[in-house]
Amino acid sequence: MKSENIVFTGFMACGKSTLAKALARELDLVFLDSDSLIEAKFDKSIAEIFAEFGENFFRKEEQKIADFFCGIKNASIATGGGFIQVSNLDKIGFCVYLRAEFETLINRLNLKEKAKRPLFCDENKAKTLYNARLKAYEEKANFILDIENKSIQELVGELKKRIK
Ligand code: S3P
Repeated sequence: MKSENIVFTGFMACGKSTLAKALARELDLVFLDSDSLIEAKFDKSIAEIFAEFGENFFRKEEQKIADFFCGIKNASIATGGGFIQVSNLDKIGFCVYLRAEFETLINRLNLKEKAKRPLFCDENKAKTLYNARLKAYEEKANFILDIENKSIQELVGELKKRIK
């Protein structure tokens, strides 16, 4: 496991960034976030990028970030919910899927947080997307971490046991 990256995947609002940051602090890794890197490049929010350039454009940017991630090490990486569709996820590092029920995820998002996520604006469509992606999240994961009713400290503890 030494020097391998840890890559967090999962549906929107499952806490990938929070946990990736906490793990980075705990294991002294570099924290990276695919969405933040794309936002920084264009000086725009994800919602603005989707509105101005479209989803396909955003997905191509995700693939460029994935290619970059393949060449680094010692990072704890948060990804966007759709990042699992990049072609080389398995080459980036140890993939941890943060699993939760759709209802749990919805309850974690207030209106402001929903507005940041173009694919969560319509709850029915979001549920369809969740169901469509479930299998891929599970299949591409090296480790599935169920997050329901657990604190960040508990999750970090479980992870540390699994990745050491
Ligand atoms: C997306 C998830 C978002 C962001 C974009 C698309 C998706 O990230 O990348 O809005 O396709 O599920 P979060 O999972 O961090 O919300």
